[in-house]
Amino acid sequence: MARNTGKEWWRSAVIYQIYPRSFQDTNGDGIGDLKGIIDRLDYLNDGSHRSLGIDAVWLSPTFPSPMKDFGYDVSDYEGVHPDFGDLATMDRLIAECHRRGIKLLLDYVPNHSSDQHPWFIESRSSKTNPKRDWYVWRDPLPGGGPPNNWRAVFGGSAWQFDETTGQYYLHSFLVEQPDLNWRNAEVVAAMYAVLRFWFDRGIDGFRIDVIGMIVKHPELADNPLNSEWTPGDHGRQKYLRTHTRNYPDVFPAVRGIRAVFDEYPDVMAVGEVFGTAAEISQFYGEGGLNGLHLAFNFQFIHENGDAVNTPWEAETLARIVRNAEAAIPPGGQPCYALANHDQSRFISRNNADGRGRERAAAATLMLLGLRCTPFVYYGEEIGMVDVDIADGQLRDPARIKTIGRDPERTPMQWDASLGRGFSTAEPWLPYGPRDISVAAEEIDGDSLLWLHRRAIWARKGEPALLYGTYREFTGMPAGVFAFERRTDGARPVTVLINTSTEACAVELPDSSGTVVVATARATEGSAVNGTFVLAPLGAAMIAGT
Ligand code: GLC
Ligand code: CA
Repeated sequence: MARNTGKEWWRSAVIYQIYPRSFQDTNGDGIGDLKGIIDRLDYLNDGSHRSLGIDAVWLSPTFPSPMKDFGYDVSDYEGVHPDFGDLATMDRLIAECHRRGIKLLLDYVPNHSSDQHPWFIESRSSKTNPKRDWYVWRDPLPGGGPPNNWRAVFGGSAWQFDETTGQYYLHSFLVEQPDLNWRNAEVVAAMYAVLRFWFDRGIDGFRIDVIGMIVKHPELADNPLNSEWTPGDHGRQKYLRTHTRNYPDVFPAVRGIRAVFDEYPDVMAVGEVFGTAAEISQFYGEGGLNGLHLAFNFQFIHENGDAVNTPWEAETLARIVRNAEAAIPPGGQPCYALANHDQSRFISRNNADGRGRERAAAATLMLLGLRCTPFVYYGEEIGMVDVDIADGQLRDPARIKTIGRDPERTPMQWDASLGRGFSTAEPWLPYGPRDISVAAEEIDGDSLLWLHRRAIWARKGEPALLYGTYREFTGMPAGVFAFERRTDGARPVTVLINTSTEACAVELPDSSGTVVVATARATEGSAVNGTFVLAPLGAAMIAGT
């Protein structure tokens, strides 16, 4: 099989993340479903420049699940949750995507299953059950209490005592999400079979949930204390995750997963990983060849893994990209997201002065201009914001943030009607402000939606943006992040981003060119000679000759 041609589909793809519960309800139960996604595919890409033009869709989990963590607690890896439809509808979705040239990615959750998965029900039934070792069971410490100091990501001890057998089981997330034991060969085989099951149905790849956690310290050694932590500090973890995350033994497991992908042509794995640029890069494998095809870099959201939002500030953005580019192995390509189902929406994170929407426009051109596979979270393209949800209506039990992750998971706003074009019933989460919708964006040529469409389609037409090298321009005025993309045989493209609230005159290093896409739409198509003036918080892509 041809590997690493440099032109694999995912290198030039823009990928759109759908949170299936919140995209489109078609049967009036207030919950989005697969049929709804099929109905909206033309919005995503119907081949015309009036559609978004995305190349692939990633669906957050659609499998049978008790929905304790809204699908990240899987009770059957080879089915479809009845809320979303059935296998026949999934097959139809695959076919409808492919008919439009859209690739379809599902969400692979290897670190843990639901406690209602038949594997775990068996495993917990007795110490001698053949599936006992499929999960991580340990005796209490001699004096009583959990086996070690590991903490669950969602708070509290990562160990749950189980009366039936008098042992603890490991759960890195909710109590209802017991960790699978990837040191057990039968687990590995069963989880490989899951990948093959979906590849055989035509799925084009997977986003892989917390892949950096699937293999931990073999002796379950305590995690070291975080020297930067002080009592009452909620931004930091008390213990470092040295023995539970990005532990060296995880990389052989990643290589094994990659080998299953290599059994199929044109499939792709993108991992949810956390850490420094160097840690992220390790997931690409040796020489970028035998690990994941892509590993997320979330540093535009949080730079250091702590709960501090990355500021929209040129030097910070430039540093993030510089670090990523320096660390990534030769064949590897960065992968950035500005938002997802676990994080506040971009505008809400960058709106202290009420100008978050302008920053979102500039960020769109940055993301689509960078050397990367860009991921766009549903609703970001119309400027959806975190929705204020009353206490009684909050649904996410995993309160990483005190309010959980519901605010960024509210239904897609298709129009300004009562049901937002999403549902005829009470939606599972409340709607956001009525004035934010696809319909409103559609009739405004200067809207964020139209900017996304122009930038995504422009990208497809510029080989430099798809495959070109990245070079940062230094010596720019304060507040301006500027870089060039260049490839042989095509015109270079310069991307200019003004993160300051002052207008900025930028001397173009290449001196002349044409504006391809800009936050100031009126400038598009115009010739640039020498100097280009960026509006406050504005951005532009300029093609050279
Ligand atoms: C990942 C998912 C998150 C989920 C967690 C546990 O971080 O993105 O939504 O709660 O893993 O599966
Ligand atoms: Ca529904």
